[in-house]
Amino acid sequence: MNDAPHVPVLKDETLGLLQPGQGKRIIDGTFGFGGHSLAMLEAGAEVLGLDLDSVAVDTCRRISGDRHGLKCKQISFRDLDVAMADVGWEKVDGVLLDLGVSSFQLDDPAKGFSYRADSPLDLRFDQEKGITAAELLAAGSEAEIADLIWKWGEERGSRRIARALVRARAEGPVDTTFKLREVVQGVLPRGKKPEPVLSRVFQALRIAVNEELDALAEVLAKLPGLLHPGGVFVVISYHSLEDRLVKRFIDREKRDCLCPPEIPACVCGHHKVLKPLTRKAVRATQLEERRNSRARSARLRAAEII
Ligand SMILES: C[S@@+](CC[C@H](N)C(=O)[O-])C[C@H]1O[C@@H](n2cnc3c(N)ncnc32)[C@H](O)[C@@H]1O
Repeated sequence: MNDAPHVPVLKDETLGLLQPGQGKRIIDGTFGFGGHSLAMLEAGAEVLGLDLDSVAVDTCRRISGDRHGLKCKQISFRDLDVAMADVGWEKVDGVLLDLGVSSFQLDDPAKGFSYRADSPLDLRFDQEKGITAAELLAAGSEAEIADLIWKWGEERGSRRIARALVRARAEGPVDTTFKLREVVQGVLPRGKKPEPVLSRVFQALRIAVNEELDALAEVLAKLPGLLHPGGVFVVISYHSLEDRLVKRFIDREKRDCLCPPEIPACVCGHHKVLKPLTRKAVRATQLEERRNSRARSARLRAAEII
């Protein structure tokens, strides 16, 4: 692992919302390098750190050897309820999800997260489970590949890229980051910058192999039942698909009635379960963006369970 630590994004804003302190139990669902967790432990909270990546969980276990109040589990945050049952926690005071990729993962060539280094096309957070991006590209039909690049990468050239990938795999597997890069670059319209397109294609594949949006939707639905009344969740997203999902969840669950306006009395039985703590998505300050380029795309939303 690279020695340079991952710099936690929007740390002060997160702590301000979660208010970690003595007697509070908080779940860091995306432990990573532990930047947010360490700050919460220092404030006196008990923290349960979860991550899918074995390197992140090893880091958590190493820190927990010196730090009282930190527990660690290698599990997806979509199974937050299972992780809580394992450590005997019934309800918690706060949940943090700092989504996306950690700097140490981008720097780890074995993961294949970056198109800047040549490595196997894996892209899984947990390399023991599920299928790799290379396997996905080998098995998918042209239409399936085009759909996922469009849906999760929002890349306009999705059909052209999918056609090129299917043509390329007939000659040999597309199983390294550089092979994928070569195929994508080979079908770019003249004058188009490759980096943004490559970022979108890699993002789409990462979301697909890790089922990232499904995991996020599942954990959001579980949160109201797992937090104490007054408990707070904070989600930091790094692309619009994640942020939209969180925004829609908060917008829906802050309402007391979901009946259409033509029905005068609410009969749907939906009751509001949360109070938004962020009117608009919170963004990093210019100073933080200058110090940490990852902060540029960060959008934080938070809500309190009522
Ligand atoms: C942006 S990093 C978190 C950084 C962390 N807040 C810090 O300060 O070091 C995101 C982490 O979430 C993990 N992750 C992604 N999806 C996950 C999931 N479904 N369940 C648990 N961890 C996940 C990744 O492995 C990565 O370590």
